[in-house]
Amino acid sequence: MANDNIDKFGIDKDKPADWFEPLYANADLNGEGVPWANMDTHPLFQRWLDMNPLSGNGKTALVVGCGMGDDAIALEALGFDVTAFDVSTTAINYCKQRFPDSKVSFLQADLLKPQPKWRQAFDFVLEIYTVQALPPQYESQLIGAIANFVAPQGTLLVVAEVSDEERRFENGPPWLLTPQHIDAFQAHALSLVSSDNQAGEFDQTTTFVSTFKR
Ligand SMILES: C[S@@+](CC[C@H](N)C(=O)[O-])C[C@H]1O[C@@H](n2cnc3c(N)ncnc32)[C@H](O)[C@@H]1O
Repeated sequence: MANDNIDKFGIDKDKPADWFEPLYANADLNGEGVPWANMDTHPLFQRWLDMNPLSGNGKTALVVGCGMGDDAIALEALGFDVTAFDVSTTAINYCKQRFPDSKVSFLQADLLKPQPKWRQAFDFVLEIYTVQALPPQYESQLIGAIANFVAPQGTLLVVAEVSDEERRFENGPPWLLTPQHIDAFQAHALSLVSSDNQAGEFDQTTTFVSTFKR
C-alpha cells in the first residue's frame, strides 16, 4: 500500500532531514556525489559580494546548511567570525578535513531545532537552498528560525529557487519556494532591501537573491 508520508525518492515527511547524511556518506571529500557542491564560493553569493563589498572586521556570520563549507571560508576571508552548520555530520567532517587551518566553527546542528543562544546573534546570515531542501510543512518553522538568527542591524542573504507553483510534497525535492515565501522572511522584523533575480535552474523558475536587514 502506498505510504503518503514517503515520496518517490524515499524521503519521509516525518524525518525530513534524514536523507542528507547517507547522501554525504556516499559522496567524497571532492564533492563527488553531492549534487549542489560547487567546491568554491557559490557563484551567486560571489556575484552578490562583488556588488556588495563586505568587511567582517570581527563581526559574526552564520552559514545555514553549509554543505561542503566554501561559503563559510569566503566569509572568514572577509574578516568575519564564522559559524557554519549542517545537519549532516559527514558534511561537517568534510568541511573540517578540507579546511584544517580555518577558524570557522563548523558544527553539526539541525535548523529544525535552532540553538537558543543563536537568537539574533549574527551580523550576517547566509541561507542558500536549505529551506527548499525540506518538505513544505516545515517552511514557516525554517523561515522563522533563519530570520531569528539575524542580530539587530544585521543582514540576511537568501538564495532560493522560486516558482509560482504550489509547493506539494510529491513534487520535491527541491520544493521550490514561491515569491510569497521570500516575502515571509519580513514577518520576522526584517525588511527586504533588494532582490536580484536571475534566470532559474529549471524551466519556469527564477533564482531569487534577496537581501534583508533587521
Ligand atoms: C541543497 S543543499 C545546499 C548546501 C549549500 N548551502 C550550498 O549551496 O551548496 C542543503 C543543505 O542543507 C543541509 N540541511 C538540510 N536540512 C537541514 C537541517 N534541518 N538543518 C541543517 N542543515 C540542513 C543539507 O545537509 C545540505 O547540505
